[in-house]
Amino acid sequence: MERTGIINEKDKDMVTEPSPEVIRIPKVIAVTSGKGGVGKTNVVANLAVAFASLGKSVVILDADLGLGNVDVLFGIIPKYTIEHVLLGEKKLSEVMVEGPLGIKILPTSSGSEDLTNLSAEQKLIFLSELDELEKGVDVFLIDTAAGISSNVLYFNTVAQDILVVATADPTSVTDAYAIMKILSKRHGEKRFKLLVNMSRSLRESKEVYRKLTLVSDQFLDIAIDFCGFIPQDDYLRMAVLEQKSVVDLYPNAKSSQRFVEFSKEILSWPQKQFPKGNVQFLWKGLLGDPSETKA
Ligand SMILES: Nc1ncnc2c1ncn2[C@@H]1O[C@H](COP(=O)(O)OP(=O)(O)O)[C@@H](O)[C@H]1O
Ligand SMILES: [Mg+2]
Repeated sequence: MERTGIINEKDKDMVTEPSPEVIRIPKVIAVTSGKGGVGKTNVVANLAVAFASLGKSVVILDADLGLGNVDVLFGIIPKYTIEHVLLGEKKLSEVMVEGPLGIKILPTSSGSEDLTNLSAEQKLIFLSELDELEKGVDVFLIDTAAGISSNVLYFNTVAQDILVVATADPTSVTDAYAIMKILSKRHGEKRFKLLVNMSRSLRESKEVYRKLTLVSDQFLDIAIDFCGFIPQDDYLRMAVLEQKSVVDLYPNAKSSQRFVEFSKEILSWPQKQFPKGNVQFLWKGLLGDPSETKA
């Protein structure tokens, strides 16, 4: 089994325990966009299947359940959400649903404001459950909701990498810029990955990248890495209708091939500094440190 918990000398100071030699630090990637309907959920689901077929253990946090998301794509109807765990009604293992190839899906509902208002006890229960989950995870993909609610922004800031999905549609480009602007100005995010979806050509996708960097170079202090494109593909739409991922159903489709290539590229992205991207760290940040809970 491949180990991803390797850190370099300069990161050593940040590590408390357990020793990084024995834990695998998952890659935490938030997939985001300003606008809905650009293909975030399809990107998440197909990358998940691609990673899983490469033997990686994958967890998807579906941060926008009920709105045509991961559950719908995999044809799964979850009974419970993370909220049930937080209320102490269910265990994380009971809430988690299994998709194809052992992909684990953690459903949340869109009204997750509760997440910030938990008692210290609730936080501790939840964090200890996550301790278990985290151990074997290679890739943790977060399908963020569209828009800029505080949870959406937070999910982005705890991920190691923020993958912004945009299409060549001018409103999508404007909205991609808007989300990067907020994340950089309010949350100090400096680096983004751009994936252009439903593109007709490399040229068209490069044009999206060019437009975005033209404005961001002028007004924002950020770097955007161009990750290429996923083609506009009827096979993907057909797969959606079948409630399957295109990578699974039509592995030879153009979009499937590109998802698989892209998943390999992602695995070669450098592992960011510990502990950013550590799942427990993610939740601690979102929920607040239990010891600091206000009465
Ligand atoms: N590469 C693609 N080629 C063709 N259609 C696509 C592609 N990506 C997404 N779609 C279509 O767009 C719809 C919306 O995608 P979805 O992943 O649900 O977007 P989001 O999660 O950003 O709201 C899908 O149901 C699918 O029909
Ligand atoms: Mg979606």
